[in-house]
Amino acid sequence: MRTTVEPVSWLHTSVGRKIIMAATGVFLMTFLVVHLAGNLLLLRADGGAAFNAYAEFMSTNPFIRVLEVFLFAGFVIHIYQGIYFISREKKSRPKGYALNNAGANSSIFSRTMRLSAIVVLVFLIVHLRHFFVEHRLLGSPYTMYDLCKAAFENPWYSLFYVVSMVLLGFHLAHGFYSSFQTLGLILNRRIEAVIKWAGAAFALGVPLGFAIIPLYFLVKTF
Ligand code: HEM
Repeated sequence: MRTTVEPVSWLHTSVGRKIIMAATGVFLMTFLVVHLAGNLLLLRADGGAAFNAYAEFMSTNPFIRVLEVFLFAGFVIHIYQGIYFISREKKSRPKGYALNNAGANSSIFSRTMRLSAIVVLVFLIVHLRHFFVEHRLLGSPYTMYDLCKAAFENPWYSLFYVVSMVLLGFHLAHGFYSSFQTLGLILNRRIEAVIKWAGAAFALGVPLGFAIIPLYFLVKTF
């Protein structure tokens, strides 16, 4: 009797899924740089004029609106693939494996990838609800600057942002290098050294830039 083998789509293989995760990861990292650059306008001593003009442009420009669809798709695909790998790893992990000296074989950033992913996801849900949904979908009467200022003058809300940014840094510290590796872009030792340095600078600089914003508003209340 002849058996037919169902063709497996490349996208559903482990390699395919890892490449999708890496590519969406790189895309989301470029978003972080743009988002941070815009948000740093909150630090200008102009009562929010520049930031509000930027927010207005971002929410009305048709090109940006199209990009936003890709952005949300990027997040959904990245999170979906992450959940797939976590659940697969859980199923295949042997129980009671006593000699697992993970500390010797991997960095703290790769070992805490699951935790950092969950914290960043919770952050993202709270963040989108507070700003995106409030302003774009519920038509808040306040300006975007006023929404940010009121949020960050609350010490608990600011603390939540700062802690989330520490975990975002952890996530990026592993994710940056790992995505370049998965995409096969680490071709020699020199490139590897550059990617390692760039990854460390990115994972430190970007979350620090974001964390400065709530701290700035909080310090101004004293
Ligand atoms: C202090 C840090 C941050 C501030 C002040 C901030 C501010 C904002 C504001 C005001 C919006 C609404 C924009 C609009 O509706 O026009 C927004 C949207 C958004 N933020 Fe943030 N953000 C911060 C950090 C982050 C981080 C770390 C991430 C990702 C991990 C992120 C992801 C997003 C996404 C996906 C959107 C919706 C897309 C968009 O409107 O651009 N944000 N953010």
